[in-house]
Amino acid sequence: MNKKEKNRIEIAKPEGKLGVLIPGLGAVATTFVAGVYLVRKGLGKPIGSLTQMGTIRLGRRDKKQFPLIKDVVPLADLDDIVFGGWDIFEENAYEVAKKAGVLSYQDIEPVEKELKELKPMKAVFDRNYVKKLDGPNKKSAKTKYDLALMLIKDIEDFKKKNKLSRAVTIWCASTEVYRKPSKVHSSLKNFEEGLKKNSEEIAPSQIYAYASLMAGVPFINGSPNMACDINAITELAIQKHLPIAGKDFKTGQTLMKTILAPGLKARLLGLDGWFSTNILGNRDGEVLDDPGSFKSKEVSKLSVLDTILQPDLYPELYGDFTHKVRIEYYPPRGDNKEGWDNIDIFGWLGYPMQIKVNFLCRDSILAAPVVLDLVLFTDLAQRANMAGIQEWLSFYFKSPQVKEGLYPEHDLFIQQMKLKNTLRYMIGEDLITHLGWDYYKAEYERD
Ligand SMILES: NC(=O)c1ccc[n+]([C@@H]2O[C@H](COP(=O)([O-])OP(=O)(O)OC[C@H]3O[C@@H](n4cnc5c(N)ncnc54)[C@H](O)[C@@H]3O)[C@@H](O)[C@H]2O)c1
Repeated sequence: MNKKEKNRIEIAKPEGKLGVLIPGLGAVATTFVAGVYLVRKGLGKPIGSLTQMGTIRLGRRDKKQFPLIKDVVPLADLDDIVFGGWDIFEENAYEVAKKAGVLSYQDIEPVEKELKELKPMKAVFDRNYVKKLDGPNKKSAKTKYDLALMLIKDIEDFKKKNKLSRAVTIWCASTEVYRKPSKVHSSLKNFEEGLKKNSEEIAPSQIYAYASLMAGVPFINGSPNMACDINAITELAIQKHLPIAGKDFKTGQTLMKTILAPGLKARLLGLDGWFSTNILGNRDGEVLDDPGSFKSKEVSKLSVLDTILQPDLYPELYGDFTHKVRIEYYPPRGDNKEGWDNIDIFGWLGYPMQIKVNFLCRDSILAAPVVLDLVLFTDLAQRANMAGIQEWLSFYFKSPQVKEGLYPEHDLFIQQMKLKNTLRYMIGEDLITHLGWDYYKAEYERD
């Protein structure tokens, strides 16, 4: 047996159809679904997606081997994906995509038929958790446990009807009001009791996470909600031997932050303050206009700088900086968010400098490839028997979920190295440390 065979992880082949179940068929979800259909028809390019366009270096640099990731890692094919989802509104994905105004008429029309077929199932919803929304397409039952059973049935029916071999759930629904995890979340037993007793502390996103895992389907959380980073759900994921990952897709301003901050830190430039503000006018912006939902987002966005800059290790550089994040709901901008960052830094002998970033971005355009990669990599993880928290997917999250006792890694470049090395490890290739000693061995070790 050669070394490569020895290291290779057993990964089941991506045979058959892969279901993608989406709670929340809004702007992000429909931009993602329409995009996948357009790519399938050869009418669009999956720009921003590592699984579709990314390469991976294998072996020594002088071998010059850079295959596409999808050519060496056994990922599901886009043609094998089947979409399903839930929403509190009854509109099909075509109507939502038109209303969301992210994609142009020219891009939506060629996939009209496919989008019209995607009709939301009745949602599990609680206005106490999303104050700014309400809609007619909701389930009702006596207890939260009954609601979970109804979701499990939805998933099982969806799998049967579409003859799926596997599925993945990815939460693309609204940001819920911030609540700290409590006793009811502390174990699976308490959680199930809480579901049966209709505990107020259990959020809809947590009911979806529970139902998905109970139905044998991995769960990914794209919002800042505490959907799967609670003990009850991690316990269930391990018990069911299924992957979970979260939270909050890393796009827009936070993506920029995790690109810039590691650079400042690498060059030991100090930070006095970082002020970030945004205007956005989509439904996500409207939901975030509620202080409870904004609090969830704020907690997720603020954690980034501390872990990248490590103020405890560099008190003189990062021990006392001000970090503020603002989001303003401004309807005229729709999904085309504009973000401003003012960064007060200092250099040699403490002399101050400023950096200004003005990012005119498109939120859902940045999020769609993240959704696609997370779905395909999580499906890979389930076929590779990798249960529980998938920290190697931190690359895609603002506030990555990690095992207790670890701190999350926010630096985009470390996250990328971790992701690619995990892929190399899974397919039995040597890990790349970037040491490069070998190439200079003769010069370095001359006696
Ligand atoms: N766009 C980005 O770049 C980005 C980045 C990070 C996180 N997110 C998060 O992704 C999520 C989706 O963003 P969006 O712009 O598509 O928002 P959106 O408002 O367009 O879509 C969310 C949809 O979820 C539905 N919904 C709310 N609660 C639900 C429930 N309990 N069950 C089923 N459906 C429910 C709403 O009716 C809505 O259609 C938000 O939580 C947002 O914070 C987006």
